[in-house]
Amino acid sequence: MARKLIETIADSTLFLREWFVNPQRTGAVAPSSPKLAAAMARWLPHDPESFVLELGPGTGAVTAALLKRGLREDRLVAIEHNPTLAKLLRKRFPRAHIITGDAWQLDELLRGQPVPIPSVGAVISSLPLLNFPKEQVAALAQKIHSILGPRGCWVQYTYQIGKSRRRGADAFRLLASQIIWLNLPPARVSVYQK
Ligand SMILES: C[S@@+](CC[C@H](N)C(=O)[O-])C[C@H]1O[C@@H](n2cnc3c(N)ncnc32)[C@H](O)[C@@H]1O
Repeated sequence: MARKLIETIADSTLFLREWFVNPQRTGAVAPSSPKLAAAMARWLPHDPESFVLELGPGTGAVTAALLKRGLREDRLVAIEHNPTLAKLLRKRFPRAHIITGDAWQLDELLRGQPVPIPSVGAVISSLPLLNFPKEQVAALAQKIHSILGPRGCWVQYTYQIGKSRRRGADAFRLLASQIIWLNLPPARVSVYQK
């Protein structure tokens, strides 16, 4: 209990520090709440052998929820741009495939793994997409579409809770959308299916 509290405080401090260094890319002042992380993790693929690709794992709040929900650690591939955060994740989740890199290069990064990963069952993304131009988001959505297996889901949260915006997700159908109020700030989880 005390260890968990110390870890939470340390993660929040680190997150805030990284936000000061690069607010646009970090995209939030604090890690996701347990409620938001659990809402993202609900959408794991049914096949336990499928890989799950996490984009922008940060300090691992959503990552931990995915594992708690039953994802095998060796089936998790995560792409984090910030090397400090990626190093922390590697220590915390030693059997997961933690890649330091740009999510927009996901196709090359997955192909370049020691055992190449041709497709994934779900993409769980915390990328701060509202901070990126529309065209760039559309390019990412296209790559997500290509890497997802049949009926695979792209789960994305944003802090725009007013309405569900389909930024870049035109080639997907909106499967579910939920506001999570218990988060700083409140967030909307959108689930798109291929
Ligand atoms: C809003 S934070 C979410 C962190 C964590 N998943 C959570 O929910 O607490 C966004 C994360 O995306 C990462 N990020 C931003 N741009 C990225 C990119 N192009 N490729 C990979 N990660 C990126 C940031 O470094 C940050 O860790």
